[in-house]
Amino acid sequence: MNLRGKSFLTLLDYTPEQIRELLDLAAELKAQKKAGRPHRLHEGKHVALLFEKDSTRTRCAFEVAAADLGMHSTYLGPSGSQMGKKESIADTARVLGRMYHGIEYRGFDQSIVEDLARYSGVPVWNGLTNQFHPTQILADFLTIRERFGSLEGKKLVYLGDARYNMGNSLMVGCAKMGMRFVACAPEAYFPDKALIEACRAVAAGTGATLEFITDPMEAVKGAHVLYTDVWVSMGEPEQVWKERIEALSPYRVTQALMDQAGEQCRFMHCLPAFHDLNTAIGRDIYRKFGIDCMEVTDQVFESGRSIVFDQAENRLHTIKAVMAATL
Ligand code: CP
Ligand code: NVA
Repeated sequence: MNLRGKSFLTLLDYTPEQIRELLDLAAELKAQKKAGRPHRLHEGKHVALLFEKDSTRTRCAFEVAAADLGMHSTYLGPSGSQMGKKESIADTARVLGRMYHGIEYRGFDQSIVEDLARYSGVPVWNGLTNQFHPTQILADFLTIRERFGSLEGKKLVYLGDARYNMGNSLMVGCAKMGMRFVACAPEAYFPDKALIEACRAVAAGTGATLEFITDPMEAVKGAHVLYTDVWVSMGEPEQVWKERIEALSPYRVTQALMDQAGEQCRFMHCLPAFHDLNTAIGRDIYRKFGIDCMEVTDQVFESGRSIVFDQAENRLHTIKAVMAATL
């Protein structure tokens, strides 16, 4: 595999073979880490981690992965740098490209990571934009492979706001890897038509299927994975909570949906999740709307069929693989 110098902006830019090889490398690096074998493949290099939005998993995964590979990382948060306020993305990219071997970016429009890649001259890794969250999909697919042995033919049903980064990226990933992808949502929450067409073209070559279904009880039948995400994403205005709760409550992942899917089915979520009242936002929503969970019930989240923390751990191993392969 020669991915050296290649940015990781969306899975659309990667072939199924390249994705498979990144997953194989992640599994290998995970085994090495578990065995306590050092893998300082990029000793002495430096990476910049730009976060215009908050993060627990992605930031920690990049920082720990960089350290495990022998690298040093610099975190630049939503405030404290010149980026976006006094200095354009293009200028920031050209500065960082002179000091760092690679750059991670989390923030708003996909065009920002594209510009960073265009102007910096070093590999840029997308740590989440409004449109895509590709490092999350690698972690999810490693987790599915560990659980089910392979990706091909596995049925993944995404319930909720399928127009945003997670719905989009899962659709792309499933199309690439020959999976059966179902977006289950009200029609207004289905992915963008142009992206669906691009994914259909990919699916034609991989044997993947893409379906768009409004009835959850119908959609989940025979699923290997029920996947959901928050109903309101980072950067969206608070006013959208009301319409989201009204539109998406029928798509909450409940025990009844898990039962309808079947014994084989596992629950997945990129996290963070609203499954109880142990968060400030969760309590605020409870006061305003009287619901004690949102996209998933606490029963499903805490059940033995929930593999969300395996996913979270796999962020580390897959992000490490992306950096190891592209630097
Ligand atoms: N899943 C995910 O990207 O989590 P963070 O927002 O904590 O990075
Ligand atoms: N859709 C969510 C994903 C968080 C990992 C968001 O963008 O906030």
